[in-house]
Amino acid sequence: MDAKLLSDAVSPLLEWYRIYKRDLPWRHGRTPYTALVAELMLQQTRVEAVKERYVRFLASFPTPEALAAASEEEVLKAWEGLGYYSRARHLHAAAKVIAEQGFPTTFEGVRALPGVGDYTAGAVCSIALGLPAPAVDGNVLRVLTRLYADPSNIDDGATKAKFAALLKAVYPPETADFCEALMELGAIVCVPNGAPACGGCPWQKVCRAHLAGREEHFPVRSEKRARKVVNATVCVLRCGAKYALEKRPAKGLLAGLWQFPFFEGEAPALGRVLAEKHAKHIFTHVEWRMTGRLVEAESELAPYTWVTARELRETYALPSAFRAFTEWVR
Ligand code: ADE
Repeated sequence: MDAKLLSDAVSPLLEWYRIYKRDLPWRHGRTPYTALVAELMLQQTRVEAVKERYVRFLASFPTPEALAAASEEEVLKAWEGLGYYSRARHLHAAAKVIAEQGFPTTFEGVRALPGVGDYTAGAVCSIALGLPAPAVDGNVLRVLTRLYADPSNIDDGATKAKFAALLKAVYPPETADFCEALMELGAIVCVPNGAPACGGCPWQKVCRAHLAGREEHFPVRSEKRARKVVNATVCVLRCGAKYALEKRPAKGLLAGLWQFPFFEGEAPALGRVLAEKHAKHIFTHVEWRMTGRLVEAESELAPYTWVTARELRETYALPSAFRAFTEWVR
């Protein structure tokens, strides 16, 4: 590939970034630990949703030692609503390693932490350790395939490897700014849905997709598989002032998290039905179409854990798939 196109584009990008970058909480007082927390939270989750949660998480767990000393329930509670809960478990495990051995100082060391893949390792190394380690996610691939008008399929691992090698070859000494500038361009200018804001782009004079008026033809992706639809019944089961919870299975979707009694298809009769409503929740590969029922039970049925409304709010992490039904808990 023509590396000069990208190497000439580095300085204009850095200049643009220094002027237009958003003021985001993880861009202040950064340490390798806070960068790791931010990058794990930001995987699969929108910046707007992460901002406040990042601040709260670090207020609860300001150091790797503090996080390492917490219980899994506490960590999951702090992650409540962010989704992809294995990230929280991995971060907890990583904190234990870091608390014992110190933060790694090489790419390989960071990459070996639990839950850290090439992207997160690249981001943390570039942003917090000053290492020229590319962090190539879907946003960066969108920006680069447009710059090059490159029709390679970005779902193909070879495409990611090709652009990672290209980035590595042009990495400037300002590793943190370069890494975040690429992400920033993808987030606020070279956006995924709808027309990109090319008028504000530092690359508008050199971007091959833009010059051809073909921005929206890139990136090229594989066709998405249709989501599987699962019909389910969710029972907010109440007995006096307590509510029934159960733990999801240890493997699979929302593994090991708490939920209201959940049944694929119809639910058995558990008591008197007081209210019913419908809600859906969309996961990456599955869509839940849920019927929610508020049910008055005659006794605290054995398979469940019975908790007060306050305990549910303060100690049990309830995935946001069930949020539509929490209005019945008071
Ligand atoms: N997305 C992933 N990492 C990010 C970062 N450091 N800043 C903004 N958006 C991001």
